[in-house]
Amino acid sequence: MHDPARQRRSRRRFDDDEPTFAKRDRHRPALPSLDDFDVADGLPAGDRWSTWDQSAASERGPRPRPDWLITDLAATDTELGILKTGKEADVFLLRRGVPGTGRSCLLAAKRYRSAEHRLFHRDSEYLEGRRVRDSRASRAMAGRSAFGREMIAEQWAGAEFSALCQFHLAGVPVPYPVQVLGTEVLLEFIGTADGTAAPRLAECGLRGADLAGLWRQLVQSMATLARLGVAHGDLSAYNLLVHGGQLVLIDTPQVVDVIANPRGAEFLDRDAANVGNWFAAHGLSDYDGEPGPDELAAYLRAEARLR
Ligand SMILES: Nc1ncnc2c1ncn2[C@@H]1O[C@H](COP(=O)(O)OP(=O)(O)OP(=O)(O)O)[C@@H](O)[C@H]1O
Ligand SMILES: [Mg+2]
Repeated sequence: MHDPARQRRSRRRFDDDEPTFAKRDRHRPALPSLDDFDVADGLPAGDRWSTWDQSAASERGPRPRPDWLITDLAATDTELGILKTGKEADVFLLRRGVPGTGRSCLLAAKRYRSAEHRLFHRDSEYLEGRRVRDSRASRAMAGRSAFGREMIAEQWAGAEFSALCQFHLAGVPVPYPVQVLGTEVLLEFIGTADGTAAPRLAECGLRGADLAGLWRQLVQSMATLARLGVAHGDLSAYNLLVHGGQLVLIDTPQVVDVIANPRGAEFLDRDAANVGNWFAAHGLSDYDGEPGPDELAAYLRAEARLR
C-alpha cells in the first residue's frame, strides 16, 4: 500500500550526507583500502581458483564425467609450466586440486593467442562459411581489431572444444574436453603422473611391424570421423599422441564438415595422404586387415558417403 510518510522517511536515510553504517560504526577502526587486499585472494603466486564454475554448462565436458576430474568449487589451479609453444596457441600443464585433501588431477591448458604476432594462416581458409550470429563480432573479426582478434581466438577455442566433445562421445580417443573459457581450452593431460607429456607419433621411435596396432587404431578413428561427416583438417604425425599403446588424436579446432565445406573432400584426402605417407615411410607393411596407406582416402570417402 502507498504510504507517502513512510516513503519520505526511507528516502531521508539515503539522502543523509553521512551513510548510516558510518554513523553506527563511528568507533570502529577504518577499513583497509581496496589496494591493501591481495588480488590473488591469498593464493600463492601462479595459482588461481578453479575456473570450473565460470564455464556455462554447455562449455563443460560431456557426461558422464571421468572419475579423476576435480569439479569442486574449492579447488585451485597451479600452473606447473609450459608444455609447448605453438603457432596459434601455447599449451600449459596445470594441477587442479582441492587444498588439504590430496585430491588433484593434471590438465593441459591450451591458450589461443589473440596478440598481433599470432599467425592467422588457418583463419580465412577454415572460418569461411562458419556463421557468427553476433554481427558486431563478425565485423570486428573481419576488421582484425583487438576485439576482433580476441573473438577469433575464442572462436578457435570453442571450435576445438566442441569437436573434442563430439569425438569423445563417438568413442574416438581424444583428451577428455574438461571445459572452455574464453580463449582457454582445458583438456585431460595425456602423459604420466609426473607431468611428462606423451610423445607425438612423429617422435615415438616406432617403426615397421610395431606400428601395425597404431595404424589399425588410426584407420578406425578416421573412419568414425568420416561417418560423422567430418575430417580432422590438420592431421599429421604431430597431432597424434602415443600413450600406453593408444593413439590419441589432438589439435581439432579446424575440423571440416566434408559435405558442407566445398573443399571438404580435399581436406579428407590431405589428412589421409599425410598420415598414410608417414606410416609407409616408417616401414608399415602389415595393415592388420585394414586398408593400407594407398587405399585410405578412398575408404574414408566411402565411409563419408562422398563420391
Ligand atoms: N592434452 C594434452 N596432453 C599432453 N600434451 C598435449 C596435450 N595437448 C597438447 N599437447 C602438447 O602440446 C603440443 C601442441 O598442441 P596442439 O597441437 O594442440 O597445439 P598447436 O598450437 O596446434 O601446436 P602446433 O602449432 O605445434 O600444431 C602437442 O604436440 C603436444 O605435445
Ligand atoms: Mg598441433
